[in-house]
Amino acid sequence: MTNIAIIEELPKIIKKGEERFQEIANSSNTDYFLYEEIIAPKGLGDSHINQFYQGDNLYVMERLLKNGFKGKIDLIYIDPPFMTKSNQDGRVTINDGEEDHVIEHVAYEDSWEKGIVSYLNMLCPRLYLMRELLSQKGTIYVHLDYRAVHYVKILLDCIFGQDNFLNEIIWAYKSGGVSKKYYSRKHDNILVYTKSKDYIFNPQKEKSYNRGFKPYRFKGVEEYEDDLGWYTLVNLKDVWQIDMVGRTSGERVGYATQKPEKLLERIILTSSYENSIVADFFAGSGTTGIVAERLNRRWIMADKSMLSGVTVKKRLIEKASSYNVYRTCARDKEVGELKLKVESIKKIEGIYDIVIELNSYSVNLEHLDIRKKYIQKIKDIQNRCSLALIDLIALDIDYDGQVPRLSLYCTRNRKAGGFNLTLKDISLRDGQKMYLKYIDVFGREGFNVYEFTDGKVILCQER
Ligand SMILES: C[S@@+](CC[C@H](N)C(=O)[O-])C[C@H]1O[C@@H](n2cnc3c(N)ncnc32)[C@H](O)[C@@H]1O
Repeated sequence: MTNIAIIEELPKIIKKGEERFQEIANSSNTDYFLYEEIIAPKGLGDSHINQFYQGDNLYVMERLLKNGFKGKIDLIYIDPPFMTKSNQDGRVTINDGEEDHVIEHVAYEDSWEKGIVSYLNMLCPRLYLMRELLSQKGTIYVHLDYRAVHYVKILLDCIFGQDNFLNEIIWAYKSGGVSKKYYSRKHDNILVYTKSKDYIFNPQKEKSYNRGFKPYRFKGVEEYEDDLGWYTLVNLKDVWQIDMVGRTSGERVGYATQKPEKLLERIILTSSYENSIVADFFAGSGTTGIVAERLNRRWIMADKSMLSGVTVKKRLIEKASSYNVYRTCARDKEVGELKLKVESIKKIEGIYDIVIELNSYSVNLEHLDIRKKYIQKIKDIQNRCSLALIDLIALDIDYDGQVPRLSLYCTRNRKAGGFNLTLKDISLRDGQKMYLKYIDVFGREGFNVYEFTDGKVILCQER
């Protein structure tokens, strides 16, 4: 499509986007999110505002709008697909007891049938919804690159108003790969808009090195020294040099396009207060929630990729207080089957002491969005050590049949040759139920419910 043709399409995209937004805002649809769980690694706190949605963010925002979040979010950061026209892979390392196997698995798709027009049609109604959710003091950061930023700027000008455009932040980084045919592309663009003129802005400081790295000794100006030399502290400028999450970075979780925590830290500190609600509707590996949690903000995240689901949950286990997860149920049919073996069970005065071991996991290879070359590898791993394909186990050992409250976790131990779970000394009342949730390395989720009765463990529900 020529540039002229795209420009002619823009008014149609904006009109269609606004109509779609109105339709959603005025619809009386019932809830799309049928499955709910509470993840409470540090015990149940009271911060149930924290929410992670596994599903399309259009429906997430619809739900939020209708559940009292209109005008309640102080900061929205989004990092949508960049219109790269290809699928983005996540890397999963599986150890089958003998060696590491790396499997690339589609994290999310970024190809668009009608190119930029389809892409903008996707984004436009979502930006309208974000405007509704932003508080009067709120700010939105839209993270893009050279492929779509100039077109999205026009949408944002129309939706948020040109007057509310605050900055274009250039995030510059070093990464492998240079070109001989054009200047190497080493920056992303982050467009910043506010909801009104009265917005949250806590200026952050950065180092500004003195000329020659020598002290100036101006009266009243504080100067500091580090390994490079002398510097002063100045308010942050709009070009940020921050390292990418590289191959050797401790932050790296293997999710394509993971952003550095330092980037989110600046954004969150600048444009929100403690206890503000911070949202990311294209969460990926969950960087926004991780940083928001650390900085004592409340957070809402959404992502529709299965790999994102398992990555976010694993990443948040150590870091988060508690949060609710909402998910459409559509994925359950794709999951494999996990079997438990009860090693020993003792009942003393009506209380059980049990040792449970995971027995096997038979993965359902259908619906796996994975390249053919990996299928045989997965089958071999399954034959040798099927539990290596399980990534996360979570338990509610006193399940009341309603919303599971998952607080006991085991994540896969790569180095130790796969994954195993032994629950020792669990005390249970006769008739008590245990909800066991599992997620495999591809992000597919399932659960089993067991009942402990008369010295036996009975599987009473599975999915
Ligand atoms: C560039 S990645 C985000 C990376 C993230 N900032 C991080 O630090 O890991 C974009 C994400 O948007 C998600 N996504 C794309 N379309 C979506 C939609 N309609 N609803 C929810 N998530 C979506 C993809 O699954 C992908 O995980």
